[in-house]
Amino acid sequence: MSATNTPNKARNILLTGPSRGIGRATALGLAARGHQLALMGRPSAELDQLAETIRSGGGAPVVVTADVRDETAVKSAIGEAIEELGHVDVLINNAGMGRYAPFEELGADEWEHVMAVNVTGVATVIRSMLPHMRAASNGHIINVGSIRSTETAATCSAYAASKFALDALTKTLRLELDGTGVVVSQICPGGVLTEFGGIDPTTKPQSWLQPEAIAEAVAMIIEFRGLGLVRDLTIVPEPLRS
Ligand SMILES: NC(=O)c1ccc[n+]([C@@H]2O[C@H](COP(=O)([O-])OP(=O)(O)OC[C@H]3O[C@@H](n4cnc5c(N)ncnc54)[C@H](OP(=O)(O)O)[C@@H]3O)[C@@H](O)[C@H]2O)c1
Repeated sequence: MSATNTPNKARNILLTGPSRGIGRATALGLAARGHQLALMGRPSAELDQLAETIRSGGGAPVVVTADVRDETAVKSAIGEAIEELGHVDVLINNAGMGRYAPFEELGADEWEHVMAVNVTGVATVIRSMLPHMRAASNGHIINVGSIRSTETAATCSAYAASKFALDALTKTLRLELDGTGVVVSQICPGGVLTEFGGIDPTTKPQSWLQPEAIAEAVAMIIEFRGLGLVRDLTIVPEPLRS
């Protein structure tokens, strides 16, 4: 067992999309477990409030800002996070967006937006982080996929296409990084009660997962390393008893 990957040891973690939903719950969960965080998001009051909440609980998060579609900003934010933290052990690619509409009603610009954030944005973040992890011969990349990474549904063309593409990127990287000490995991949630897709969570099926459940699973993926590697983890709401 390598010393850097001792199970349950505190890690330095860069998390994208921490302002709300799964990202916010993950940030709070990881901070409460003693991990050191770099919160990478677009500037917002929510991001500042999250950092303040973690600080009031005794944590010391680093806040760096970038839109994942802006390569220059991403490189600069990741450089800043590495400098502040000393090193980054874990990268969580959580930032994402969805547009739900029948394909023929989905604008070309909406298609491009989903792809730019969920595929190219994640690739940009990974490309900016990988030299650091390769130099350390250690790193854990965790991509937040979806149940739509492998199963599509009506109104999900752009979103499912983006998550299928992310699945392909995840699996290709795994092959290319084999033996380097940099490993790649993917977590694929089913429906989660967040504002995802611009939809009020109170209007979503209340049997769906709480974001804290995904946060718990992400912490497990991180802390398990050293015992073994959780590669792909699918989490779905438990079916209601009839
Ligand atoms: N909710 C679900 O049912 C569900 C199910 C499976 C998988 N997922 C996945 O889980 C992840 C998080 O989703 P969520 O449900 O927590 O959604 P959410 O509440 O809408 O949060 C999305 C996060 O992504 C960030 N983001 C969006 N576009 C960005 C951009 N261009 N640059 C940087 N950050 C950007 C948002 O930041 P801003 O504050 O700057 O907008 C926000 O922090 C996504 O990858 C999503 O595909 C969600």
